[in-house]
Amino acid sequence: MKPFFESSEPDMSLDRVDGRVKVTGAATYSADYHFPDMAYAVLITSTIAKGSIVSIDSKKAAAVRGVLAVISHLNSPGVPGYGDVKQPAERAAVGTAFRVFYDNLVYFSGQPVAMVVAQTLEQANQAASLVKVKYQKEAHQTDFEENIKNAALAEGVQRNKNSPFQDYVRGNPDAINEAKVKIEDTYTIPTQHHQPIEPHAIIAVWEGADKLTIYDKNQGVKSAQGNLAQAFKLPRENVKVNAQFIGGAFGSGIRVWPHTVAAVLAARKLNRPVKLVLAREQMFTSVGYRPYTVQKVAMGADEQGTLSAIVHEGVGQTSTYEEHLERTILASRAMYACPNVTTQYRLLKLDVNTPTWMRGPGDATGMFALESALDELAYALKIDPLEMRLRNYAECDPERNLPWSAKGLRECYKLGAEKFGWKDRVMSPRSMQKDHMLVGYGMASSLYGFHRHPSKARAIMLANGSVIVQSATMDIGPGTGTAMTSIASKVLGISPEKIRFDLGDSSLPDAPGQNGSSTIPSVGSAVHVACEALKKRLSELAEAMPDSGSKSVSYPDILKYHNLPQVEVTEESKSGPERDQYSMYSFGCHFVEVQVNPVTAEVRVTRVVTCADVGKIINYKTARSQSIGGIVGGIGMALMEEAVMDHRYGRYVTNDLSSYHLPVHMDTPEIEVIYIDKPDMVVNPIGSKGLGEIAIVGVAAAIANAVFHATGKRIRELPITVDKLV
Ligand code: MOS
Repeated sequence: MKPFFESSEPDMSLDRVDGRVKVTGAATYSADYHFPDMAYAVLITSTIAKGSIVSIDSKKAAAVRGVLAVISHLNSPGVPGYGDVKQPAERAAVGTAFRVFYDNLVYFSGQPVAMVVAQTLEQANQAASLVKVKYQKEAHQTDFEENIKNAALAEGVQRNKNSPFQDYVRGNPDAINEAKVKIEDTYTIPTQHHQPIEPHAIIAVWEGADKLTIYDKNQGVKSAQGNLAQAFKLPRENVKVNAQFIGGAFGSGIRVWPHTVAAVLAARKLNRPVKLVLAREQMFTSVGYRPYTVQKVAMGADEQGTLSAIVHEGVGQTSTYEEHLERTILASRAMYACPNVTTQYRLLKLDVNTPTWMRGPGDATGMFALESALDELAYALKIDPLEMRLRNYAECDPERNLPWSAKGLRECYKLGAEKFGWKDRVMSPRSMQKDHMLVGYGMASSLYGFHRHPSKARAIMLANGSVIVQSATMDIGPGTGTAMTSIASKVLGISPEKIRFDLGDSSLPDAPGQNGSSTIPSVGSAVHVACEALKKRLSELAEAMPDSGSKSVSYPDILKYHNLPQVEVTEESKSGPERDQYSMYSFGCHFVEVQVNPVTAEVRVTRVVTCADVGKIINYKTARSQSIGGIVGGIGMALMEEAVMDHRYGRYVTNDLSSYHLPVHMDTPEIEVIYIDKPDMVVNPIGSKGLGEIAIVGVAAAIANAVFHATGKRIRELPITVDKLV
């Protein structure tokens, strides 16, 4: 197949199509909509981690001026779909087994137990502070380390023989004991929370007894539509979900959370639009998070550095009422050409809210352990860590025994190392210095699975020759509209200014939510085929014109001749048999320089070179921005982010942005981003794979490896804070 883009030049030409509305404040995020009789809701959340509600005294709250209702399990209008599932074993209609305002049981601290709705936000806040909830407390378990012995194979996995989370053995499970050189260690990642600039927010509007419209921060208007239709037993088309602008999301918007349903319930009860915006503190318990995870990795090799065995065991945290599984141990099966690999994955149920996907879910966690361990083994063998990776390069997928659709990782290693200056690295720790600072160079590999879901796009040419392309896809920040406009522009040969791309509306053609780095591969392909079909339709119309062969005609001429107000096509694009013939991943690597103050042990990341092979780059500018975002996320994961819980109460104490630390500009160095930019024509018609999440995978390991190189201290428990280094 011919590459879709002829030129290998990075496409720097197209700025963000919505950049202007975003920076001028004209973009409408969910909470920016307004309705004349809109009421404001404030959640009241449990102060105990386990037990039951004995009573709710809302007398004082109800007396506050402007208060319209205090809603709880005592007076909730109810969610009809909740009746269809048994708690806690089954997955509930709304995508969460937790049923809001359903009964008096408390499963975690921070659980919504009641909600005040008032005419103004101030009234609602004041009234919420006056609601008195009495609880019957039960002993809770929230301490991961203390309870890790209770970890077990997930029930969902026990029921499903084909689950990838089943125990896995490739080759000889005892090979690790026979290895010439081996290492074995434990790696810990604390709970980390999504903290986008825009907190979750919803406005719920019942347009009639059986018609619901919501303006909601989420990552998938179609899945939210489906979930709410199921929960409220409405025909799908009667639920309209709008999410045109999203102020950042990393996975917390993939599912419908209890607060969303709570707002819909309030709007129903009061029969008026209700707005609910989560307080920053509620972002820690009202939506999911990256789960606390402990991993054990054992790795063996011969003296030449050829891997002979990998044993990777992981335990992840989940709630008592739901099982959250993620890819934690899976990368160890595919990353290196190792004949003997054993993996095991367990869940630990605690009295906490359910975790969820967070940027590179599972892989970011698992690759911290795998890529740290490989660095340790390289040191044990006195082999350069990059050389160690090259010696174990997997030429085909060792797990599925299939060829890669494309794998430019060797080129990534080469280009990244050159750009970074890896050859100047002195192998032994504490041997490089600059301005009295200890300097460390570290690197790690990265991979991320290829996800492509069936997607539709509609392409419309108007009489004036301008084009509207539509799909119910999302933009949580990467610049979806910009990339899709680039694709449409290339296919149609029309300048981007004449193209408009519509998204974030559930009434548009079916598309997956924005997750798993699947948007460009899925929706980009649909836009490509829809624009191809539009072009074909227009050329058929042109051929029907007199003298069609002898002179060129413009698009408006074609429509004018045929007296057509517009020409419209809708096309679907999806994977074919190639899914079973090839193994598909994005690959990459990160090179990191850190400087560590030898007195205070403060770590600064001073330089990053990241290189990825994600197939064809559609828009270099927005792609680069994604990669930088992922690296910054990785810096947070490595050095700062940690949700600390006071286990006496089962409550987070770091539940604001002054105590839950995130990287700011001062923590972010120059980040150089390199793409191989070769189309992978196996995966889809545009040759493009996922980019968003591979950017964070491996970063924490690269930083930890650099810290070891700088200081001689191997930190296996994130975040790498000064107390662990001094
Ligand atoms: Mo991503 S965790 O699929 O937003």
